[in-house]
Amino acid sequence: MLTQIAVLVSGGGTNLQALINAERAGELTAGHIALVISSRQGAYALQRASSAGIETAVCADEAAINHALEEKSIDLVVLAGYMSILSPEFTARWPRRIVNIHPSLIPSFCGKGYYGLRVHQAALDYGVRVTGATVHYVNEIPDGGRIIAQKAVEILPGDTAETLQRRVMEQAEWQLLPAAVQSVCERIGEEKSSGRHI
Ligand code: GRF
Repeated sequence: MLTQIAVLVSGGGTNLQALINAERAGELTAGHIALVISSRQGAYALQRASSAGIETAVCADEAAINHALEEKSIDLVVLAGYMSILSPEFTARWPRRIVNIHPSLIPSFCGKGYYGLRVHQAALDYGVRVTGATVHYVNEIPDGGRIIAQKAVEILPGDTAETLQRRVMEQAEWQLLPAAVQSVCERIGEEKSSGRHI
């Protein structure tokens, strides 16, 4: 049985789109995107999910999220531009079953307050020459769980937070996330078929 994936979103959903495209292209063979949960009505990511024929839900709190995940027998939660920090109770319930993509090379420019364009502005303000993206497991520490995959992206003269955000997405996030999700799904699939929880 394929690893059943729920993607949690709040915004535009380009990383969700990358996952949908990967499943369509036969690059995400170990998992199936069974559900998209948005923290808010009207997120464009919901339209992307509907266009792809994926079931959607809008959940205002963690109790509603847990209910939706259990109803669809979800194995893996992918945070793709999800703008709320999950509680320690929630993350403890899903050990090594929640992954997040963050648009910097963790441990730089991450943690509380580093989201959206702020991450890229912080990298520019510091003057680093290389940034990138990180996929990691989610635990009780914001952006603090074990790293699964990283990809570096060059910062170019004249970059603004907006141009850098776009380049990090194009050159790192949209490839890194589907590949990392595939490998996590393979691991979960092996655990499920062997009856073990590694
Ligand atoms: C991405 O930069 C992601 O790394 C961060 O939030 C952004 C979401 O963009 N966590 P999108 O909604 O996937 O387009």
